[in-house]
Amino acid sequence: MHTFNEFVKIFAERFAIDHFPKHPSTLYEPGDYFLSLGGKRIRPVICLMGNELFDEINPDTYHVAFAIELFHNFSLIHDDIMDAASLRRGMETVHKKYGSNTALLSGDVMLIRSYDYINKINVQYLPRILSLFNKTAREVCEGQQLDMDFEKQEVVLMDDYINMISLKTSVLLAASLEMGAILGGASEHNCRHIYEFGKSLGIAFQIQDDYLDAFGDPEKFGKDVGGDIRQNKKTFLMLHTLASASDDQKKELNELIKTNPSDKVEKVLSIYKACNVDEWANQLKEKYYQKALHHLEEIAVLSIRKKPLIELAAFLIQRDY
Ligand code: IPE
Ligand code: IPE
Ligand code: MG
Ligand code: MG
Ligand code: MG
Repeated sequence: MHTFNEFVKIFAERFAIDHFPKHPSTLYEPGDYFLSLGGKRIRPVICLMGNELFDEINPDTYHVAFAIELFHNFSLIHDDIMDAASLRRGMETVHKKYGSNTALLSGDVMLIRSYDYINKINVQYLPRILSLFNKTAREVCEGQQLDMDFEKQEVVLMDDYINMISLKTSVLLAASLEMGAILGGASEHNCRHIYEFGKSLGIAFQIQDDYLDAFGDPEKFGKDVGGDIRQNKKTFLMLHTLASASDDQKKELNELIKTNPSDKVEKVLSIYKACNVDEWANQLKEKYYQKALHHLEEIAVLSIRKKPLIELAAFLIQRDY
């Protein structure tokens, strides 16, 4: 069996091929640029780990892993337009470097390319993988739209936030694991639990992402820290603060959201800190981390086989990038 880091290396070597033709370079070069920036490669690697939990790697799992990573990168190119983000993986975002129209189209063609890889898998598995892939892709779009709707909504409930992050982020982690498990021959019972493991872990992962967006080290995080605050994202940090702040703090926060002053980020951060968001973040992450571990326990394989996934889960919720 392999650890997460071993699979990252193996995947990186295989994935370092040309995914696009050369012409027109104005369309394909932005995609190559973005893929060359790397990233953590979490989703394709957990797809491989989902397979290896049950059996040796099925060669089709690499095709699915490629498709998943291309889908993820497509979603980030479009997400950075929606979030007006200028930095990703420590480098300029695609729309900043090449313009939004090109970023849209380069993202589209990357999404289309991901289906070429899905199309390579054995026909025995194709309908099941394709329908899970498509259901997940639709849900990511739903989550992304809710994320934008919430920017303009004054009241957002914590449950709505959890539902939104589960759609935009965690279903893709869940499906990556399940697609690997399917190709590894897992039973229905095991597929269901590995999906739920990924879903809870994905929620904890997005909670950490939202935390880092406010409090991360910009050098390590590689994205514009404070971006969520500038965009009025209804992260759990904002929701918890609005619910627990004093009347004066609430008034100040609502004023900052409405008027968008140049010192908005530092002012919001100091209210966050005063409301003990750190403690709340840890509790919320822990809750979903424990849920994830519960589902992992329910999977009927020798517990030694689960070790790489347990290590990965611990890393994902503590990461600083
Ligand atoms: C970023 O995902 C988008 C979120 C769902 C938070 P990652 O943090 O996995 O991004 P890369 O691929 O490593 O850059
Ligand atoms: C993005 O969530 C999730 C998807 C791309 C589907 P975020 O907007 O929080 O991701 P980052 O922080 O830009 O990576
Ligand atoms: Mg974003
Ligand atoms: Mg976003
Ligand atoms: Mg984020």
